[in-house]
Amino acid sequence: MAVTRTFSIIKPDATRRNLTGAVTAKLEEAGLRVVASKRIHMSREQAEGFYAVHKERPFFGELVSFMISGPVVVQVLESEDAVKRNRDVMGATNPKDAAEGTIRKTFAESIEANSVHGSDSEENAAIEIAFFFKPEEIVG
Ligand code: CMP
Repeated sequence: MAVTRTFSIIKPDATRRNLTGAVTAKLEEAGLRVVASKRIHMSREQAEGFYAVHKERPFFGELVSFMISGPVVVQVLESEDAVKRNRDVMGATNPKDAAEGTIRKTFAESIEANSVHGSDSEENAAIEIAFFFKPEEIVG
């Protein structure tokens, strides 16, 4: 199977609780390799642009407010079948539905403060990676 890339965000609820390393350890234990990483504080414009696909959803305003409430860590992850591997280790969007041992089951506080974002397809991974990283910032 081909080595592919996906995009991850460690969200403000996790950075606030000093869980950047603990979340990254779960990603690495799952076989994902961090090939780019930076800690940023998103602007409102960045968060609205990143989540534009959700702009008609009732939770959009709160989602944007939450994502700019503190620093996040944006990462590019690499492995065989990286999108699926990352989604498997993240667990379901709502931590109440997430499987034991997943990042969201272990760390998430709520469906909004759910500790991590991960791309849902290779196509979206490419778009999301390009939203935050220049090609030369990714070192595999
Ligand atoms: P994420 O993978 O970052 O993509 C969109 C986010 O919206 C999602 O994770 C959730 O954290 C957040 N969200 C907040 N409320 C809801 C909801 N009711 N249904 C789905 N996602 C929600």
